Amino acid sequence: MDLSRRHFIEAGMGASLAGAVGVSFGLSASAKANSMPAWHLGYANAPAGGFDPAPMKLVFGTPPSDLKGSLYRNGPAHFSYGDEYASHWFDGDGLIHRIAIEDGQAVHQARFVETRKRREEQAAQTFLAPGFGTLGDESYYVESADDTNAANTSVLMVDGELLALWEAGSAFSMNPETLETKGPKTWRDDLKGMPFLAHPKVEPDGRVWNLAVGGSRVGIYRIGTNGALEDFGLVNIGRAAYIHDWTMSERHLIILVQPWINESLRPPVVAGFEWQPQHGLQMLIVDKDDFSNQRWTQAPARMFFHTGSAWEESDGTIKFDVSFYKEPILGVGGGAAEIRGEWDQSYFSEEGVLTLVEIPPQGDAKLIETGIIGEFPQVDPRFRGKSRNLVALASGASNTRPGSTTLAVHNWTSGETKAFDFGDNRIVEEFLFVPKSGGQSDLESWLVGPVLNIKAGVREICVFDAAHVDDGPVCIWQAEYSWPLGFHGTWA
Ligand SMILES: [Fe+2]
Repeated sequence: MDLSRRHFIEAGMGASLAGAVGVSFGLSASAKANSMPAWHLGYANAPAGGFDPAPMKLVFGTPPSDLKGSLYRNGPAHFSYGDEYASHWFDGDGLIHRIAIEDGQAVHQARFVETRKRREEQAAQTFLAPGFGTLGDESYYVESADDTNAANTSVLMVDGELLALWEAGSAFSMNPETLETKGPKTWRDDLKGMPFLAHPKVEPDGRVWNLAVGGSRVGIYRIGTNGALEDFGLVNIGRAAYIHDWTMSERHLIILVQPWINESLRPPVVAGFEWQPQHGLQMLIVDKDDFSNQRWTQAPARMFFHTGSAWEESDGTIKFDVSFYKEPILGVGGGAAEIRGEWDQSYFSEEGVLTLVEIPPQGDAKLIETGIIGEFPQVDPRFRGKSRNLVALASGASNTRPGSTTLAVHNWTSGETKAFDFGDNRIVEEFLFVPKSGGQSDLESWLVGPVLNIKAGVREICVFDAAHVDDGPVCIWQAEYSWPLGFHGTWA
């Protein structure tokens, strides 16, 4: 934490922040009209047409000259029709953002993914489709999971194709320039409508691995650097566990079977989950060259949403970082209170703790808990599946509003943690590693990510030096408006 630096940034940005409050529109205007708390901008509807490309203003620092590319992000961004509110945060329609950065300039744009759910609910101006936390209207027929697809969780770029990801249905293909929706992605004719998780794993050379989860059967996608499906196989994980994310080393896929079990999968899906800690956390390790070559290991019961990445030591020990909870969070009604503008610190009895899992060549896994609270763990894309130093997290908590306060970076090699606390006025989201030009190690990379400036009612994109986050941001661009909190992104 670096209070003086934070206060310096606040002071230095004072003039532009004051101006921004005056010109903000859309979300902040409607939030104020409804007398919602300022942080509710994170859970307010985005404009139905999204956001046309608009330059962001450099309000702090000097942008790195080698930072060139686009930050794509996805997240739920429609939560209410009149006085009717979404019943779970995970069921809002997906809004795809692009923040294009080049020559020190940043330009933001965004479009909703035009799913059937989105089209019909917008036309009717009411909620219709069943979902993760939504029962749905009986008039809304459902033939396949894609009829309920919210396309709201993450994005993947493969061979120049931008995909909007959900977890229980197809990915949606998007135009990476205009963000217009092309339609559901079919990897192979016989896999039409097959689930495609929102957490694909991309090898440093661009090959993509992902899972299709349906009860206790899990499909494995292997996608080549040309975007074509190379292989699809099936494994059995024994029980219908909630699988939102998983992890991968150079040689193995590691499927974490957490004891949060749902045998019914009827809407609202979340109501069918049962926490069964007696099973512990079981992990299936699958050989990437031969899916039938498998072994199991186990650890004490933990719930999780997100892993960092795995690597293997020379003796075959697999290690990976993950944010672990002792019990499930975001179950029935997850986020529904925040969507209504209500928040109580006691809603969050459980915090994710950065944990290193060590799986020996034989026997049970060991959990090494760091005590660092955080979510959305990210690693340098050059070292996915490989040994590395750093993991970045959205960390910290406020006692005045939901969301993270701090960007934290833990170094597994040195054991050191560096952090920058933005304070109560900014909500920190997922930051992504972007390799520095010519850099060889993950210590030579930038961290790029969004924050929600709730005091000014606007959005900001921040850049940090990954090895020195405690020095504060390298630069900050600011939009003239806000947009809701999202989940995940990719840098392309
Ligand atoms: Fe996720």
